[in-house]
Amino acid sequence: MNASHPAAATTKKINLSAPWIDERDEELVLEVLRSGWLSLGPTGPRFEALFAEAVGAPYCAAVSSGTAGLHLCMRLAGVGAGDEVITSPYSFVASANCAIYEGATPIFADIDPRTFNLDPAAVEAAITPRTKAVVGVDIFGYPCELDPLLELCERHGLAFVEDACEALGAEYKGRPLGSHGHPAVWAFYPNKQMTTGEGGAVTTGSADQHELLVSLRNQGRLETSSWLQHGRLGYNYRLDDLSAALGIGQLEKLDRILEARGAVAAVYGELLADVGVELPLPDDADHVRSWFVYVVKLPAGVDRNGVMARLAAEGVASAPYLPSIHLQSYMRERYGFREGMFPVSEDSSARTMALPFHARLERDDQEYVAAALRSALG
Ligand SMILES: Cc1ncc(COP(=O)(O)O)c(C=O)c1O
Repeated sequence: MNASHPAAATTKKINLSAPWIDERDEELVLEVLRSGWLSLGPTGPRFEALFAEAVGAPYCAAVSSGTAGLHLCMRLAGVGAGDEVITSPYSFVASANCAIYEGATPIFADIDPRTFNLDPAAVEAAITPRTKAVVGVDIFGYPCELDPLLELCERHGLAFVEDACEALGAEYKGRPLGSHGHPAVWAFYPNKQMTTGEGGAVTTGSADQHELLVSLRNQGRLETSSWLQHGRLGYNYRLDDLSAALGIGQLEKLDRILEARGAVAAVYGELLADVGVELPLPDDADHVRSWFVYVVKLPAGVDRNGVMARLAAEGVASAPYLPSIHLQSYMRERYGFREGMFPVSEDSSARTMALPFHARLERDDQEYVAAALRSALG
C-alpha cells in the first residue's frame, strides 16, 4: 500500500472468501515435498481414511476435483448416450455438465424456493423412460430432500448421486451427509469449507463402487494390473500427495473451521435481521446446514446489479449466486432452454447474492458489510 496516499491506505477491501491455512498445513505439505513421493504415495490413502471417517462413509476415493468426482459417478451409474439425467437448474454448472460428458442430456426440475434445492415432486414429473439418474445438490450447504429423492429413485429404478460439494459437515435426519450409503461427491476448491487447492472426493457405502472409482480415476488400471495395463477406459483424476497433505491439515481443524463459519453466519443473522433482505433458511429437525456461502435474497424489483456496484464501491465483494444453469449460453444453444422453463430457479437467480463469508471474517468487517448493504439498498 502507498503510504503517501492516505485514501488508498484507508480503503477497505473485503473479499468473498478466504481459505484457512496455518503452519500445520505448511508443515504437512513440506513433509511430502521433502519425501519426494508426490503422487500415489502414502499420503493419499491417509487423507482418504480421515475424510471417510469425517463424513461417516465406509469408502472414500480422493479425486482431482468435484467435477471429476461427478463425472466418475456418471460412469458408476452407467449413464450413456441417449440417457437423461435429472438435476437442479440452481447449481454450479458441473452438476449438469457431468451428464453431458457421457453423452446424456441434462433435464432440469425446478427447486423449492425456501431451500433452493430440488423439489422432489418436480423431479418425479420430469422422469421419462430415458431417465437414468438423478443428481441431487445440497446447495449452499443445505441438505437436499434425500429420503423423498432416494425413494422415488428406488421406485423408478434410477441411480442417485449426491452433489455434496458445498456441504461438508451438513446433516440430514441426524446423520452426516456422506453416511447415507449412496455416492456423494465433495469438492475442495479454496472457497470451500476445507481446501486442497484443487481437489475432490467421492464417498460411498459400496465396496464395488469404490473399486470402480479407484480404477477410473487412475486411467482404468485394475487392482491386479501393472502400470501399463488398463482394463477399462479411465481418466487421470488422481489427487496428488501434496494436495492430500493439505487436506489432512484441513481435516485436523475441520471442527474449528465449521464452528467458526457457523459463528460468522450467526453474526450476519443478527446484523442483517432488519436490513430488508431474506436471510438463509434456518436449520430444522431434518436439515442441518454446513455454512458454505452466505446468500441473501433481495426483494423483488430491487436492482441487484446496482446493489452489487454500490457494495463494490465500498470495497465489499459480492457475487450473483447462482445463475440458473439452463440459461447459460451453451445450454440455450445446445438444448433450446429458455426463460420461463423453471420459474422458481430463475426468480431465485435474479434475486440472490452472496456476501463476503469465511471462517475468519472479523465482526468489524461484518458490521461494515451490513452497513454497506443497508445503504446500498436504501
Ligand atoms: C455444487 C457444486 N458442484 C460441483 C462443483 C465442482 O467442484 P470443482 O470446482 O472442485 O470441480 C462445485 C464447486 O464449485 C459446486 O459448488
